[in-house]
Amino acid sequence: MKSLERLAGALPKAELHVHLEGTLEPEMVFFLAKKHGVKLRFPNASALRKAYQFQDLQSFLDLYYEGAGVLRDREDFHQLTLAYMDRVSRDGVWHVEPFFDPQTHTARGVAMREVVEGVLSGLREGEKKHGITWRLIPCFLRHLSEEDARQAWQELIPFREHFSAIGLDSSEKGNPPSKFSKVFEEVRASGLLAVAHAGEEGPASSIREALEKLKVVRVDHGVRCVEDPELVLELAKKRVPLTTCPLSNVRLCVYKKLSDHPLKKLLDAGVSVTANSDDPPYFGGYLLDNWLGCLRELALEKKHLIQLARNSFEGSFLPEKEKETWFEKIERVEATVA
Ligand code: ADE
Ligand code: ZN
Repeated sequence: MKSLERLAGALPKAELHVHLEGTLEPEMVFFLAKKHGVKLRFPNASALRKAYQFQDLQSFLDLYYEGAGVLRDREDFHQLTLAYMDRVSRDGVWHVEPFFDPQTHTARGVAMREVVEGVLSGLREGEKKHGITWRLIPCFLRHLSEEDARQAWQELIPFREHFSAIGLDSSEKGNPPSKFSKVFEEVRASGLLAVAHAGEEGPASSIREALEKLKVVRVDHGVRCVEDPELVLELAKKRVPLTTCPLSNVRLCVYKKLSDHPLKKLLDAGVSVTANSDDPPYFGGYLLDNWLGCLRELALEKKHLIQLARNSFEGSFLPEKEKETWFEKIERVEATVA
């Protein structure tokens, strides 16, 4: 087991599902609240951390949006993003494709430019410091209207060259992918790819809907595909990446315990599954913690770890040549560690 844990740490990994606002550690919430004179309803960081107990996705989102309220200027977004890059650099993460939620900030009067330029400067400094490459993905909030998403897209257009894809997140129940068909079509017409959260709390049919109506090239979470064996076969055949987040799924009560998670079953079925952190401080772990949790609770074998590492680069938006380089590096680590 120890040697597999070493291998998990040493393998080069890409993170394909993390929300920058969800990397806000409670200590940073308090630091930024003080900086901006924001009154919080918790006495200190440890009291806030104790409140990270959720019944479902919505109970988490309520606290997540409240926490994000302390992000006010570009320096805050820079600091948030760089802290995430610093943290994952210790875990063998070499490429990241984070999400951010522009509407959460513009609705509070923060200018789009402050958000995007702060995030970009954090990513650039992280890349210079650690050699971690990145792609950036703004997400539409699905609890808001399609018109609201279109307005956000208008404000994002000046920064379009910095994005690889558009995403869709927030409350899945009652907000199916089809609600955003038109705006996704407009964004895709500008050359961006599409991804969407689907099949986290929503049914397997919402995964099909995201593929058909939004033309997503990657499904975020997607774990409820297991309820539709035909869909699992199709996802495996087409190598559609599923960016699963095991610790998140347990904390949000999608599964009672990690040993119930379908990650191993999906890997064995040939689906291009990855393991990611989603919102690390809220769910008790960064990317490597997710890997190690699955290793222990699902009794993963060496071949599963290698496949997870390969899938993380295969499913990324890196050019094919760079993916090949990472596959070779993974083979070298496989041969030397464990
Ligand atoms: N925003 C941040 N984390 C999310 C999740 N797990 N599902 C949907 N929206 C989110
Ligand atoms: Zn997510």
